[in-house]
Amino acid sequence: MKSTDGARAAKTAAGERAAQAVSDGDTVGLGTGSTAAAAIRALGDRVADGLSVTAVATSHQSRALAREVGVPLTALSDTARLDVAIDGADEVALPDGGEPLVTAPPLVKGGGAAHAREKVVAAAADRYLVVVDDTKLSPTLSHPVPVELLPAAEATATRRLRESGADPTLRAAERKDGPVVTDNGNVVVDCAFGEVTAPAERAAEIAAIPGVVEHGLFPGVADSVVVGRPDGDATVRPVK
Ligand code: A5P
Repeated sequence: MKSTDGARAAKTAAGERAAQAVSDGDTVGLGTGSTAAAAIRALGDRVADGLSVTAVATSHQSRALAREVGVPLTALSDTARLDVAIDGADEVALPDGGEPLVTAPPLVKGGGAAHAREKVVAAAADRYLVVVDDTKLSPTLSHPVPVELLPAAEATATRRLRESGADPTLRAAERKDGPVVTDNGNVVVDCAFGEVTAPAERAAEIAAIPGVVEHGLFPGVADSVVVGRPDGDATVRPVK
């Protein structure tokens, strides 16, 4: 998707602010997407200035970028715990404003089909920092929920998703015929539910369908939401 200068500035502001929250010696989870990429670049700058970190990437794309900007990497499969993770989102159920948050706002993730590893990293991190531009904030969630499926379960799980109220669409690849194939070798269906009023319940319902590898609803995991603005400002909204 093409990004305007304002959107780029907002993503950069959020990513740079979140990268400042990383401390010397931290093990850092690197999310996927354009806003997480801004954080990875900013982290690379801090490493060049002498910060010592070890990072794990959630996708081929983030791993390549971390390498390019000099962030040292280790394997996610060898990492049981992370000090901090920085990750983007497609939608955050959060009214705009400056107040601290009492509960973690639920998220929809998976626009880049990396949500399975992103959820592993989110769960392993002591602090999970969500970086978004202000267009991602919404009073309630209504963005289609990406659901990663074992290819062998595509038909059965899609039927079950439809029965649970979703309008599912198999995500098509670009410049390749056929579906997107994730870094894990699976397919993704984007499930429009309309408004998701009870994200935790919906998350449990989707997760219980056989063949679902992971879905993009992330209720209750954010420790802080960093919101970037087109003017280059960023607001940090911690969850109390
Ligand atoms: C990757 O699968 C996603 O979860 C991304 O974190 C999400 O799509 C946000 O991406 P942008 O920062 O590019 O909007």
